[in-house]
Amino acid sequence: MSAHRDAQCDEPGPGHGLPLLHQLLYCSRAAAGIDAPAVARIVATAQRVNPVHGITGLLVWGSGMFFQWIEGPRDQVTQLMARIHRDPRHERVVMLSETEEVRERLFPDWSMELVTPGDIRPVLQDALASAKDAKTTAALCLMLAQFDADRMDPGAADL
Ligand SMILES: Cc1cc2nc3c(=O)[nH]c(=O)nc-3n(C[C@H](O)[C@H](O)[C@H](O)COP(=O)(O)O)c2cc1C
Repeated sequence: MSAHRDAQCDEPGPGHGLPLLHQLLYCSRAAAGIDAPAVARIVATAQRVNPVHGITGLLVWGSGMFFQWIEGPRDQVTQLMARIHRDPRHERVVMLSETEEVRERLFPDWSMELVTPGDIRPVLQDALASAKDAKTTAALCLMLAQFDADRMDPGAADL
């Protein structure tokens, strides 16, 4: 048998070859005393642990608030969220969206990227420009709308 494959056979049709992704977006208030070094420690842990569990995403920190987008296998995302929920470094955790669907990851190369509020729009718009399917576009639009609604202030003093 020939090892040759037609290019079109490598093109995934809708849903084919794509992972079932659990994804969530929450916001929370940083606990008193959480500063840049403390956030750097959180991100260092995330970047060490998340790849082991197949989790990718981004963390926005500014104005004393966190926003975090987490995507990966359902059980892994649920277990991580339970740990994050208990973490005393933040409080008033509010789930903004939690869904599951078959599609590509929004941020396949980011085990957990720290983004400032001033950079989040261009990051999401870049991702939108390269989005290949309607579900990915919808997920990104949801995030954009959420950030616009909450209007984290990039000029805040605690950035
Ligand atoms: C805002 C915020 C985001 C976090 N994000 C992650 C994350 O993406 N991955 C991760 O492993 N830990 C993350 N953590 C840390 C977890 O809450 C927890 O400390 C870590 O998973 C270790 O858990 P353990 O002490 O129960 O082993 C985050 C903590 C906070 C406050």
